Amino acid sequence: MSVFDSPYYDHHEYVVSHSRPELGLQAIVAIHNSQLGPAVGGCRMFPYDTGAAALDDVLRLSRGMTYKSALAGLPLGGGKAVIIGDPQRHKTPALLDAMAEFINSLDGRYITAEDSGTSVADMAIMRRTSRYVLGAENLQHIGADPSPYTARGVYLGIRAALAWRGEGELTGKRVAIQGAGAVGAALCRLLLAAGADVYVADPDPRRCAAVQALGAVVVPVDQVLTMEVDVLAPCAMGGVISAATLPTIQAAVVAGAANNMLVDGSLASQLAERDILYVPDFAINAGGIMTVYCQRSGESLAELERRIESIPDTLNALFALAEGCASTHIAAERLAQQRLHSTDVGLRQAG
Ligand code: NAI
Repeated sequence: MSVFDSPYYDHHEYVVSHSRPELGLQAIVAIHNSQLGPAVGGCRMFPYDTGAAALDDVLRLSRGMTYKSALAGLPLGGGKAVIIGDPQRHKTPALLDAMAEFINSLDGRYITAEDSGTSVADMAIMRRTSRYVLGAENLQHIGADPSPYTARGVYLGIRAALAWRGEGELTGKRVAIQGAGAVGAALCRLLLAAGADVYVADPDPRRCAAVQALGAVVVPVDQVLTMEVDVLAPCAMGGVISAATLPTIQAAVVAGAANNMLVDGSLASQLAERDILYVPDFAINAGGIMTVYCQRSGESLAELERRIESIPDTLNALFALAEGCASTHIAAERLAQQRLHSTDVGLRQAG
């Protein structure tokens, strides 16, 4: 299959593959758009069934990164890397070194970070070979883990969404969180502190016990999506809202960290038809990429907080725009495109 035949091809600037059979490395890097700055996006390792599936994924994810960074007002472009292989069985230091050499060959046009199947420790290995690797330093002022900042952005976004619907403060609001991982647990803490009633589901009993100790109510994994709540916050994996699950959702607002929570962006219109306010994931979870940017640029913690506090402004702009189009998802894409096409955006937003 040619790159141009992929349904996810979107005039990507640069797509390059690399193979080192003796090390088991097969990888693809896609740079979707570098108009606003160097392309930044994680390096995913996954046992894709076919090369075509890996290509589709890297094309789709790199495009998503362009939109996420543009909406976040960051001077970064969108890119992504995928390594075809099982991280449990095929990941070795030699493979990671070879991946880092591959990234070096792009001369800084693409900068990588951890993603599914790769870890902070893997980034530390790659960083020995390439300076175009983020997330390896445990910077004193920010830390290596973006999750608390992502959670704070999601929390502020939930407040903005409730306010947009005229629902007032979080006190007494019912919020269901799918996933009590790094982001979900931090979000739970913030919501409880604001007086919300929080329900959390996670298949991992230790993670359930941790949020229960904070004061959340643990609910079964197969019930969390369909709870009658003010807010549903998917914070586990992508693809949870599909044509099958959408009709069962009873929340007034859907707002969470999970990347690509909609199987297809067009489902956002169906949520709107049901009067459910959907907050696009790539707008509300921008705290992660903002943290990565601050790690790279050396911006202060105060500057990072200022950026995260701008998330509700972006959401209010896209909620307003959505009144004239089919969904908040389309509005978010339009707003990102506007920012992308405004030539001085990088300078303006970088301040
Ligand atoms: P994590 O791996 O720490 O937590 C995910 C949690 O979801 C785990 O506790 C897991 O047991 C749970 N889970 C898995 N299947 C589940 C199910 N069916 N029902 C309920 N819970 C389930 O991941 P993290 O870092 O908290 O990220 C959560 C989501 O947010 C992911 O989709 C990630 O891509 C996205 N995201 C994370 C960012 C970050 O800064 N960590 C930034 C932007 C997006």
